[in-house]
Amino acid sequence: MGLGKIKRELLRVLSKEVALGATCFAFVVLMLRLLCSDVVAVKSEVVDVLDFGAVGDGTVDSSEAFLKAWDLVCSREIENGVRIMLVPENQTFLLHPVTFNGPCKAKEIKFLIMGRIISPISPKTWEGLDQGKWLMFRGVSGLKIKGGGEINGRGWGWWNQSCRYHPHLEGCTSLAPTAMIFESCKTSSLSQVRLVNSSQTHTHVLISGTNDFIVDDVVITAPETSPNTDGIHISSASNIFIRNSIIGTGDDCVSIGDHTTNIHISHVRCGPGHGISIGSLGRAGNFVQVRNIRVNTVSFKGTTNGARIKTWQVGKGYVRGVTFENLFFDSVKNPIIIDQNYCNVRGACRELETGVKVRDVVYKNLQGTSSTEVAITLNCSRSVSCTGLLLQSVLLKSSVTGKNVSSTCINAHGAAIGVVQPAPCFQDFDH
Ligand SMILES: *[C@@H]1O[C@H](CO)[C@@H](O)[C@H](O)[C@H]1NC(C)=O
Ligand SMILES: *[C@@H]1O[C@H](CO)[C@@H](O)[C@H](O)[C@H]1NC(C)=O
Ligand SMILES: *[C@@H]1O[C@H](CO)[C@@H](O)[C@H](O)[C@H]1NC(C)=O
Ligand SMILES: *[C@@H]1O[C@H](CO)[C@@H](O)[C@H](O)[C@H]1NC(C)=O
Repeated sequence: MGLGKIKRELLRVLSKEVALGATCFAFVVLMLRLLCSDVVAVKSEVVDVLDFGAVGDGTVDSSEAFLKAWDLVCSREIENGVRIMLVPENQTFLLHPVTFNGPCKAKEIKFLIMGRIISPISPKTWEGLDQGKWLMFRGVSGLKIKGGGEINGRGWGWWNQSCRYHPHLEGCTSLAPTAMIFESCKTSSLSQVRLVNSSQTHTHVLISGTNDFIVDDVVITAPETSPNTDGIHISSASNIFIRNSIIGTGDDCVSIGDHTTNIHISHVRCGPGHGISIGSLGRAGNFVQVRNIRVNTVSFKGTTNGARIKTWQVGKGYVRGVTFENLFFDSVKNPIIIDQNYCNVRGACRELETGVKVRDVVYKNLQGTSSTEVAITLNCSRSVSCTGLLLQSVLLKSSVTGKNVSSTCINAHGAAIGVVQPAPCFQDFDH
């Protein structure tokens, strides 16, 4: 509610109350005073992009206007206060690639996206620019994006020239802009927005080099057939929460990269897409450090994978302390999968003695259906085993009536507690 609106509302109440008599009137005036002084005490200042020349018609490029507004929002101090950048509702703003840079003076910046932000359709707009990004926030702490609006990457212009889908197309692109990148944005959040049709490779939302970031109440969608459109990718980050969200895309709903700690994913609906993936890790032969990942209360519908860990054999380092808990699968190809021999072309990578160590992974209270015969795949490296795996109350059935499901293990070590179906296949199995 804007200040004007609050005042009008109070006046309306006030005029009604007047009829009730003078005592009441005095009381209301007092209340009004208190309320207004309260409102003033919040010390927020709204910067509306329309005041900087943005045009909400969906065709005029409003990038410059947004950047001017941002400049003001970011550069002015406001004592103990919140600065608000407003993208008003019922309007559509076309933005070319833009970067909102920090650090900013205000402790907190609210970026209220109430309307729609759309991207240029033609990849030509990116000529001479970094093709990997569209909307980027860099080094902004205390950034709170919300507002109920939509961010539409209108990715089809990129999808139909993707090398992945059109390898023989001349001038095909393997890189396309990530819709939103948050780089080094500490103590920030993204909530109450819809992200649609990101142009792909790889992501709708990328969180990188960041601590303390919350994604809450977002909806991310793209067609199942769109190439590489991950929902959210997290890399080099810690204390990240993703919750209460719906993600359905052409790739992973959430993927977790090489240097990540304390990642909490809960109350998410995933599908279509490739599931929730820790990895792929160690692709460049680097040292992986992934610790304390919790995936809790997630449902997967028609996805390729559910709870997945995938590592490249050339990688080094570790993944440890992972909990997949309270997951529900509906026709998922690989509900539980560890693939420590991940390779972009199956079987094309030479078997190596290196690998990313997978240790202490708990699968607890998982149920639902698998659309393939192998519901549990624990394919670990022959030289670097997976240890400390725990299956507890896991009940998986085939989505095809009359069919059974099974488990497969390579060098996987662990234990099972309670009902576990299909029966686990650990090497040194102990109940
Ligand atoms: C790809 O999409 C763009 C934008 O919709 C269109 O102009 C172009 O003709 C399409 N190209 C192909 C090969 O379908
Ligand atoms: C997303 O893209 C698909 C495929 O081009 C299209 O059918 C759908 O309407 C788009 N959604 C929005 C909200 O633009
Ligand atoms: C896991 O290993 C088995 C046995 O070698 C193999 O048949 C299967 O294709 C592997 N699964 C994956 C996903 O690599
Ligand atoms: C499924 O497993 C049950 C119990 O082991 C067995 O009796 C049944 O024959 C199996 N069904 C098929 C189709 O393999």
